[in-house]
Amino acid sequence: MNIAPPTRRELVLVAVLFLSILYYSNLQLRNALIVTPVSPPVIPHRPAPVDSLVEKTPRVYDTRLSWGDDAVPASKVLSHVPGWSIIDRLYLLGGVVYIVSDDPESVPDTSTMYSKGIHILPGKEHEDSRLPGDEDIRIVSTAEAKKLFGTGASVIDGVTYFVNDHPQFIRHYYHWSAELYFGFWRTYSSLDPSISTEGNTTLPQPRHMFFNRLDAFRWRDPTDMNQLVLRSSFPDVTMEFIDDWDDRAKMNVPFVFDRVVLADRSAAMISYNYKRYQRTAAAPFALPGSFNWWMTIRNSVIQMAGMDIEDGSSTSDKPVITYVSRQAWGRRTLIPEHHDRLVKELYRLRDTYGWEVNVVLMENFSRMEQIQLSVRTTVLLGVHGNGLTNLLWMRPTPRTTVIEIFYPEGFAHDYEYTARSLGITHYGFWDSASFTSPNTPVNYYPDEFQGDKIPIDAEAVGRLIYDRLTLSLEVDD
Ligand SMILES: *[C@@H]1O[C@H](CO)[C@@H](O)[C@H](O)[C@H]1NC(C)=O
Ligand SMILES: *[C@@H]1O[C@H](CO)[C@@H](O)[C@H](O)[C@H]1NC(C)=O
Repeated sequence: MNIAPPTRRELVLVAVLFLSILYYSNLQLRNALIVTPVSPPVIPHRPAPVDSLVEKTPRVYDTRLSWGDDAVPASKVLSHVPGWSIIDRLYLLGGVVYIVSDDPESVPDTSTMYSKGIHILPGKEHEDSRLPGDEDIRIVSTAEAKKLFGTGASVIDGVTYFVNDHPQFIRHYYHWSAELYFGFWRTYSSLDPSISTEGNTTLPQPRHMFFNRLDAFRWRDPTDMNQLVLRSSFPDVTMEFIDDWDDRAKMNVPFVFDRVVLADRSAAMISYNYKRYQRTAAAPFALPGSFNWWMTIRNSVIQMAGMDIEDGSSTSDKPVITYVSRQAWGRRTLIPEHHDRLVKELYRLRDTYGWEVNVVLMENFSRMEQIQLSVRTTVLLGVHGNGLTNLLWMRPTPRTTVIEIFYPEGFAHDYEYTARSLGITHYGFWDSASFTSPNTPVNYYPDEFQGDKIPIDAEAVGRLIYDRLTLSLEVDD
């Protein structure tokens, strides 16, 4: 076939076409650059290198509160319930705690704030032996303070959590995270009743934790959870223990705390809420507070475990049921056949409704995995015990539920009160009977409470779980 050579007209057309393609593609490239600029990567802001922390103007450190010839600045009790107090300018001299006030009537009785911090045993006689004396705490006038302290005191700056407790109730995940730490944050957060669901708060982080009755190795719990909770919620808090307290006492010079949140277990035990619930952390719930008060701590802890604050079972997600088994413990366990039936019932729910069911021994999980699983869990189920402490990390929604099994007639408020104070529904079970607040029984430990013959009616539990998860909810979360 013979192909005619291109005419001049054709050559011109091809050239025009080529140039237009070039022009338009260039235009598009430029438009692209103009219309959708590439956004710079979001780098979380942190005041970085040490250079920027160097101050330009030399100054002396603020190590002293000096009043010279003036009156000693008075202490101020900002907030108080038995066992939990927030005090500005609490003084310390020779191992004695001082509240400086010319209006001692306005200061709560020292026995509701402080004690001898000794081992707690039941009975009136022991209760009396724990009451504080002049060698522990004193309320003094500004004139007396002047004689004692002289012209100034060394400052312990920022907010200090101060624990005047014997080690007895500290080395335990529940007693630390759901009681001491819980009570501290509940007390302190009463100063910010507007904490948001994200946990945003105007409160500065505590700078220090003081334990004046405790050796450094005696605050960690056997599962290492206490450390994890502290280091993830307040990563830069410094801690002092009995040796440090003694160092300061022996110097015999005055120190002053900017602000302390003071906890005393023995003093909290005289509160109505303690008598009612056997929980020292119940006392600060008499103070104002945000509904979201715990979110500041919870969100830091779960983020450290790699979860997002939005994670967790919402009312529309597939529910997750987690049964924390204690059967391997040989103590406070279900009748073996009842445990088997319960597991079968849970698997029946899973197979019928497509819900996720986990039957777990918490000790088989790493600490991170425990937290991750709790965040995802909608219904947490188990016999009364420390495995339920992880309810602290659940996402409180209208259907989030904790189901706690007791030996019939036995009851303790530990997890019930904890769940309720986080906005989580709690049900107790006595075999086939269930109860929930406000119809909770009184604290009672029958002989079989700790035994290995706890009965449970698996179908009754299944029915309650079904009701909780299919509840028609008016509020969306
Ligand atoms: C909470 O704080 C975060 C980060 O500081 C901010 O992005 C968010 O808007 C705050 N939320 C509220 C309700 O203040
Ligand atoms: C827990 O771990 C032990 C030992 O590794 C294992 O025998 C047991 O089956 C595990 N139990 C559960 C419920 O995962």
